[in-house]
Amino acid sequence: MVLVQRLPPAELPGAPANRVAAAHVSVRPNTPTQQDAMKFFIDTADVAEIRELAQTGWLDGVTTNPSLVLKSGKRFVDLVAEICDLVPGPVSAEVAATDFQTMLAEGRRLAGIARNVAVKVPMTVDGLKVCRLLVDDGTMVNVTLCFSPAQAILAAKAGATFVSPFVGRLDDIGADSMGLIADICTIYQQYEGFRTEVLVASVRHPMHVVEAAKLGAHVATLPPATLRQLIAHPLTDVGLARFVADWQKTGQSILDAP
Ligand code: E4P
Repeated sequence: MVLVQRLPPAELPGAPANRVAAAHVSVRPNTPTQQDAMKFFIDTADVAEIRELAQTGWLDGVTTNPSLVLKSGKRFVDLVAEICDLVPGPVSAEVAATDFQTMLAEGRRLAGIARNVAVKVPMTVDGLKVCRLLVDDGTMVNVTLCFSPAQAILAAKAGATFVSPFVGRLDDIGADSMGLIADICTIYQQYEGFRTEVLVASVRHPMHVVEAAKLGAHVATLPPATLRQLIAHPLTDVGLARFVADWQKTGQSILDAP
């Protein structure tokens, strides 16, 4: 039996008017998890890509990082405002500093840009201190650069809205990235008080998404090309081409049929 308490839908996690809202699902210890749906964020600061993919209806949010901002060539605060206008879901914007005071000030500045900003802070002691204060302000926080279950526990204890384990970078060093996702999902399911969503980051291919979904991760953030890869299959292309050709041979038209 699945024992799931659904919280009110639609609002943003951690939004001031509706703290801890949205897609969080509270699960009793040792019972199967059931969420409304896996969410897809797009991992890019390319506004043209975001605009195009927003039309698919697949996008639930956006993640950016300093490297992606550098690539965009745009002024960061303007970029964040532009993306927040395009996508109503959480838009992760990362602080630049690493010291407590400056990170807090930057986080509050970023949170002031739009209601759907999720401030990204690094997995450091000061980052987690900033996380707690921003969450107490009613701001969504994404704790980034997570590489271990122990770090994920600390992010949840700091009240993070999201924790971002980087699977691709773990694969790069020959570590068990999906084992990490499994561990974090299992740990979070043990405690009703852990409401942090597992945001699978550094995704490199569709199987990362499939494996993360099997484990019940709440969110995957995908580069645009990987998001498009999800739908691609050569047998779909071949099958469709054959159906189109055979239909043409019938000489019929559905729309012109009396
Ligand atoms: C997202 O929040 C991360 O910054 C991103 O997924 C990192 O991906 P990379 O390892 O491909 O740079």
